[in-house]
Amino acid sequence: MPTNTSSPAVIEVTPYTQQQPRWYCEQLEHGKVLSFRKAPFPFSEDDARFLLSQKQTGSRFHKNISYRPASDVLKGADPGADRERLHTIVRNFSREVTQFISSFLAPYAGKLKLDFASFRPLEEQGRDLPLHKRNDLLHVDAFPTRPTRGGRILRAFLNINPAASRVWNVGEPFHEFLPKLKHREVITPPPRNPALTALRKLGSRIGLPVPDRAPYDEYMLFLHDWLKENTDFQTSSPKWELQFAPGSCWMVYTDGVPHAVMSGRYALEQTFIVPAQALVSPEVAPVNVLHKIAGMEAIQI
Ligand SMILES: [Fe+2]
Repeated sequence: MPTNTSSPAVIEVTPYTQQQPRWYCEQLEHGKVLSFRKAPFPFSEDDARFLLSQKQTGSRFHKNISYRPASDVLKGADPGADRERLHTIVRNFSREVTQFISSFLAPYAGKLKLDFASFRPLEEQGRDLPLHKRNDLLHVDAFPTRPTRGGRILRAFLNINPAASRVWNVGEPFHEFLPKLKHREVITPPPRNPALTALRKLGSRIGLPVPDRAPYDEYMLFLHDWLKENTDFQTSSPKWELQFAPGSCWMVYTDGVPHAVMSGRYALEQTFIVPAQALVSPEVAPVNVLHKIAGMEAIQI
């Protein structure tokens, strides 16, 4: 199916079209991408220039940089004076975007779990990655090391590239595509190994760095890979191209909206886990969609 360019998947948020916070939460949970022409929170031109200047000093960044707000730890950056500045910039970005989301999406305030942030300096087009790690194939997100146990994955992005848009393809939301797909395809994760599951649970309980995944998390990890492997889904499912212009910001539930990054570099991103009890439309949350589908009773959280 050809990619559409005029998308029903995106809602542009402007100062003239302000809605109630609950309405924005509903739209996001139903699979819309909310887009802002400019960052709706402070982010200085100086900081953007610093991040971009790194390309002129000899490809200092050779991988994505990740930031863990809970422990204030930056990973993936080379040591040196610039590292401190980079740490400060990503820390401030994380704080500002979190503060904004807490008021813009007020029903979530106080309930959001702050996950990792990242700086993505690499050009996405043509990256040479193994199939399951490729970003240019439609997929829904699931984190191998951070199970959500039914919580949803909300991500906010900022394109600091002054010259090029970040280009995504997005597909139909989870509550629309999964029932159709399940109707004609068998998507069944391999059975869990009870001994391994018990070991993981024990390890996690005594503080070892092993993820204690619920069957829901296992299913979402399996689906992530299955979608990337499935040529028919990649080529035939409806999809829309979205171009996020220089300086723009957008947010989306990436566990529910199939997405693929086709091109772009220099983006900042912050991830939030929104627990089930904070959702305003829990009926379209992936865990509940899976519960409703026949044969999915085993998807426990
Ligand atoms: Fe993703």
